[in-house]
Amino acid sequence: LPVCAALSSLVLVLLGLLGTAHGCPGVCNCYGNTTDCSGVGLLSLTPVLSLLDQDTITLRLPQNNLSSLGDTELSNLSSLELLDLSQNRLSALQPGAFSGLGGLRWLNLSANYLGIRLETFQGLWRLRGLDLSSNGLQWLPKGLLDGLQGLAWLSLAGNRLRALDRATFEPLLGLQQLQLAGNPWECDCKLRDFKHWMEWMIYRDGKVDAVQCSLPGDLKGRDIRSVPAEMFSYCLQSPTKEGASGFGTRPPCPPGRVSSTDECVRQRYRPVSVRRAHGTQIVAGVVCGTVCVMMVVAATYGCVYASLMARYQREMKSRGQPLMAETSAEADPEDGPKIKATTIVLPASPCMRY
Ligand SMILES: *[C@@H]1O[C@H](CO)[C@@H](O)[C@H](O)[C@H]1NC(C)=O
Ligand SMILES: *[C@@H]1O[C@H](CO)[C@@H](O)[C@H](O)[C@H]1NC(C)=O
Ligand SMILES: *[C@@H]1O[C@H](CO)[C@@H](O)[C@H](O)[C@H]1NC(C)=O
Ligand SMILES: *[C@@H]1O[C@H](CO)[C@@H](O)[C@H](O)[C@H]1NC(C)=O
Repeated sequence: LPVCAALSSLVLVLLGLLGTAHGCPGVCNCYGNTTDCSGVGLLSLTPVLSLLDQDTITLRLPQNNLSSLGDTELSNLSSLELLDLSQNRLSALQPGAFSGLGGLRWLNLSANYLGIRLETFQGLWRLRGLDLSSNGLQWLPKGLLDGLQGLAWLSLAGNRLRALDRATFEPLLGLQQLQLAGNPWECDCKLRDFKHWMEWMIYRDGKVDAVQCSLPGDLKGRDIRSVPAEMFSYCLQSPTKEGASGFGTRPPCPPGRVSSTDECVRQRYRPVSVRRAHGTQIVAGVVCGTVCVMMVVAATYGCVYASLMARYQREMKSRGQPLMAETSAEADPEDGPKIKATTIVLPASPCMRY
């Protein structure tokens, strides 16, 4: 048995040597389990991938001229753990471009031209680090980071992001480091929920480098994490208008200003206690209004009843019958409606007023 084990390990070592010997594309530099093809002017991955050892763990392709990735090109590299595609010309990724890389742990897409045409990273369920810095990203598509439960490190630094949606980041339960510096953050209602999410992340010992506001003017240069939450309380006043607005629509007003048809006007400072007082006034008004309406209804009812009774009395009179109201001293107890007739005088005065 030990002989068999020794033989099989020898065979494995030989196979490994053959693999590395035959698995290095000519333009690249191979060492250990790393294939390094940095800065060799590649326009396509095909010449590298056709010769690549399928056991490669690290594949470095930075500083080339790669402009696209086919959706199956990377599909046979399940042992790959680090893929560096930084400083290329990638402008669009197919939705499943990385779906064959189930073992990938670090993906570097820094310094490309991904812009806003970024597609999902489906299939990268073991990914721990993702570098999307310096890509000119203006916003992140919803669901972009879904399925990246293992992500611990993410860089969005040096893009053109003005806002982020909290929902995009909620799947990242294990995120420990988030790099956001170098973006023109607009510290208004759109960033408010994300600010809250960041505060939770920091509370869980996560690290965020810097979120410096570029707008509005009075917050320029401030880190949004140090801006008091009260300054965003105006966002709650019109949640449908501000909250549901997409990224393509007019941006919501900055703190201290309120939206007025087309422009933002300076909002008068109204502390919480004043707003509560307004609320109390509204409640009191509603209660008073209800009482008044009920009084009107009661008065109207009285008037109608009075006029009906008056007509009844007139009819009785015309038939020559004696009236109860006029001769109440000699009351005739068997006639109900006539007794009630004495009471009809009471609502007469409200009748005159309404
Ligand atoms: C290469 O990967 C194999 C497993 O795939 C591992 O046993 C070996 O130590 C690695 N070599 C280096 C130099 O990292
Ligand atoms: C590759 O990109 C470099 C600049 O990064 C450029 O100078 C070079 O001409 C490009 N090569 C090809 C073949 O496009
Ligand atoms: C992946 O490997 C399969 C066989 O193992 C092969 O048929 C297929 O062409 C390969 N795909 C690529 C993109 O190399
Ligand atoms: C990604 O690549 C860039 C440029 O090549 C480099 O500066 C950066 O450190 C890399 N990111 C990571 C996480 O290694």
